[in-house]
Amino acid sequence: MSLTLPAMADAAKGKEVFEERCEICHNADSDEKKMGPGLKGLYKKEKMANGKAPTDANVTQIIQEGNPEKGMPASDLEKDELANVLAYLKTL
Ligand code: HEC
Repeated sequence: MSLTLPAMADAAKGKEVFEERCEICHNADSDEKKMGPGLKGLYKKEKMANGKAPTDANVTQIIQEGNPEKGMPASDLEKDELANVLAYLKTL
């Protein structure tokens, strides 16, 4: 999958999206499990639960496709919302 992130990704806006769409299942301030893994330090991990490195492309894939079997819903974020969420996740 090719992915071009808009240059102006905005972590503050990404935080709003996260609070609306992700926080019910993911902690942002710890790596403790809620419904899904806590996402603090996500980009500093060697690999995620699916065994892949936390690159923008791999994180995007998880967000877009989800993992319905394991309880991660696919999400239809707009491209700019997605870029903002990635920018926010990198601050965790
Ligand atoms: C209904 C609960 C739920 C919602 C809402 C949800 N997730 Fe998840 N998420 C999960 C679960 C459960 C997993 C673990 C899947 C697995 O074990 O493979 C997961 C996995 C992930 C992972 C992989 C983490 C890792 O270390 O492997 C990322 C990144 C992620 N979610 C990001 C998001 C983002 C960003 C949003 C909001 C757009 C979101 N999730 C919304 C439940 C959710």
